[in-house]
Amino acid sequence: MSPTIRTIPFARPSLGTDEEQAVLRVMRSGWLTTGSEAEAFEREFAELAGVEHAVALSSATAGLHLGLEALGVQEGDFVAMSPYTFAATAEVTRYLGAHPLFVDIDPETLNIDARKLDAVLTGSAAARVRVVLPVHIGGLPCPMREIRQVIDQPHIRDSHGRNGSGPPISILEDAAHVSPTGSGCGLGTLGDAGVFSFYANKPITTGEGGMLCTRNAELAERVRLMRLHGIDRQVWDRYRSVGAGWRYEVVEAGYKYNMPDLLAAIGRVQLRRSEESQRRRYDIAMYYNKAFDDTDYLRLPTMKGNTSHHLYVLRLVPQRLKITRDEFIAQLSELGVGTSVHYIPLHIMPYYQRRYGLRPNDFPEALRAFEWCVSLPIYPDLTDEEREYVVRAVRSVGDAAYQGKGA
Ligand SMILES: Cc1ncc(COP(=O)(O)O)c(C=O)c1O
Repeated sequence: MSPTIRTIPFARPSLGTDEEQAVLRVMRSGWLTTGSEAEAFEREFAELAGVEHAVALSSATAGLHLGLEALGVQEGDFVAMSPYTFAATAEVTRYLGAHPLFVDIDPETLNIDARKLDAVLTGSAAARVRVVLPVHIGGLPCPMREIRQVIDQPHIRDSHGRNGSGPPISILEDAAHVSPTGSGCGLGTLGDAGVFSFYANKPITTGEGGMLCTRNAELAERVRLMRLHGIDRQVWDRYRSVGAGWRYEVVEAGYKYNMPDLLAAIGRVQLRRSEESQRRRYDIAMYYNKAFDDTDYLRLPTMKGNTSHHLYVLRLVPQRLKITRDEFIAQLSELGVGTSVHYIPLHIMPYYQRRYGLRPNDFPEALRAFEWCVSLPIYPDLTDEEREYVVRAVRSVGDAAYQGKGA
């Protein structure tokens, strides 16, 4: 290892003078909140993602909440999802008095396992499942066709009511890790709705923000209404034209989930750069893959299609190493390499354990993946020198802790 220790953060947003100019332009325009920039961002995003409607929001969490609400999720309903995700994916069910119904992951991809979904939907809680919420971890596609096949099976369809009593099961994609460009495979536009995140470390960032995409005009209208207090006209419409009326009506108890123009302006610049950013992340992922390929103590991430490569999740092979995952991370940290863990599964979080009586081994694949995973830095501004340093740091920690095949 080189004697000069570097500090390489796990994530770093890529922002430049174009974003600065865009913010200045909006500041000087006299209109800061949701207006023409947000409208333009929605239009440009929808075009890039290849979808009819895009609604800009304050976060992906807001989008997941409004998406479930618009899909008719009510108190006592269930939403099927893997526990291998961030808090937001499940907490939004609770906002509506509904419940997450966890389904274990496919250990190959870290995404929801469609066969296990099938088994769960045949179980006792199944009749109250209204939505399946697949999370494309790191931008890697969930098995959307298989998920659709599962919910379209006659015995499941009938128990939900196209021919039975209740509404059919819908699909809301958690596309928080997806870049709309990453949608060589259309991620985020394959379900009834999809939700993207613009949080600080995401493929496109506005600091905080989100976008709900859908082909369903009625659903988009409902989300537009509920994102701004359930008021029947957008604030922008009320003030932008001379002679515009002051009157408005509150037709639902809505939320305050709109995206301000100040942030939308940043998003528009980021969108223009998203193809290039994705290419850079792909290059870094390939570089890491090549550098670790000859080790047998690291399991490399599955790569499929033209995806966002938002995360690079390594898994340690416990039988080959003398140290734990936490020690591995601590030693990388001493060498100045920032890492993270994606994810601490929700079923081992105190709230979900307490509320639903869950135990760690209820979802063994999610638990095992969590115990041995390490996410490495992967972002457009990571320099060639930095990625080389990351590789050398990982190799020096791993090689020193290697205990061979026989142990
Ligand atoms: C999988 C997943 N879903 C949802 C969210 C929530 O996104 P936001 O911070 O934009 O609300 C995140 C954020 O990190 C996430 O990783």
